[in-house]
Amino acid sequence: MSAPPSSDESLATLDRELARGLDLVARASSVEDVEDAQTSLFGRKAPFAVVERALGSLPEDERRRVGQRTNEVRARLKAAITERRQALESERETAVLELDRIDVTLPGRRLRAGSLHPLTIVQQEIVEIFTRMGYRVVEGPEVEDEWHNFDALNIQPDHPARTMMDTTYLSVPGHPELLLRAHTSPMQIRTMQAEPPPVYVVVPGRVFRNEAITAKNMPVFHQVEGLAVDKGIRFSDLKGTVESFLRELLGADLRVRMTPSFFPFVEPGAQFDVSCFVCGGSGCKTCAFVGWIETMGAGMVHPRVLENVGYNPERYTGFAFGMGYDRLAMIRFGIPDIRILWESDVRFLEQFEGVG
Ligand code: DAH
Repeated sequence: MSAPPSSDESLATLDRELARGLDLVARASSVEDVEDAQTSLFGRKAPFAVVERALGSLPEDERRRVGQRTNEVRARLKAAITERRQALESERETAVLELDRIDVTLPGRRLRAGSLHPLTIVQQEIVEIFTRMGYRVVEGPEVEDEWHNFDALNIQPDHPARTMMDTTYLSVPGHPELLLRAHTSPMQIRTMQAEPPPVYVVVPGRVFRNEAITAKNMPVFHQVEGLAVDKGIRFSDLKGTVESFLRELLGADLRVRMTPSFFPFVEPGAQFDVSCFVCGGSGCKTCAFVGWIETMGAGMVHPRVLENVGYNPERYTGFAFGMGYDRLAMIRFGIPDIRILWESDVRFLEQFEGVG
């Protein structure tokens, strides 16, 4: 061990330490820096500790002088440390407060309510009208087999209706007859197969056709099928039901027109048009200047269809109808391009908030 410092050496050390200490503390930029400075100044091996330990070996009057100076320097450094630490702590607190500051005067964030898709709105309206008339809502599979989609509906393998309703066939090993349903009519068959008459159902859902995508057509669109089978159902029941439905959905003052049409699963078959609800029938772009808008195909259920599901056509009769409602939604909401219905663009969808 080296010899203890003389009193002059000690006093010089104290002056150096005071200067060094004040500088260290002043430069501390965090509470941790202050603690490091404290250790460096007052640690066991610090010059300050060496001076303190040497005090005892000094003669009386020198010890008092050096001791007094030691106390002064220690007091000044400790005061500087305390002051700097407090300043830094309060700075840190202010920073934290600033970070998670809450402005209680800001207006609250409103929860944005979602909206129904325009197709859902129209579908619900259609279904709701029929529900009030006593119809039940059923839904069916989008993947169908050829028999339900065509054969059972009296659409022969070589009938042109198969080409008109061309759809996507699925390649599932062992199930060569699977396809995406081309219409909701197969649910007529499934419903009648599952239960005895009377039957009153409506069937909303997606249907698929081999169509190019254009502003007016999509390979996926939507239909609602209707089927009523009971004792004594007549053509006039079909006419009355469809007319009151269309007037309720589209407007009480509409004119409804029925013209003959052909679908293999009905006999006789018909088509229902309404006077254009945009121009009132005088002719406009929406109705292609004919004054009428096609709404649905319909007719009396073909006896062969009833036979196909095991119903007795001598005892039961019925009517069926099928309507696409993508076009109705477009006219109703002024949507110029069917593709918009598929884009899920929030700017489009949010316009329907509160509708429906
Ligand atoms: N399924 C036919 C189609 O998609 C529409 C249709 C016509 C349905 C007449 C019917 C009906 O129930 O009776 O073109």
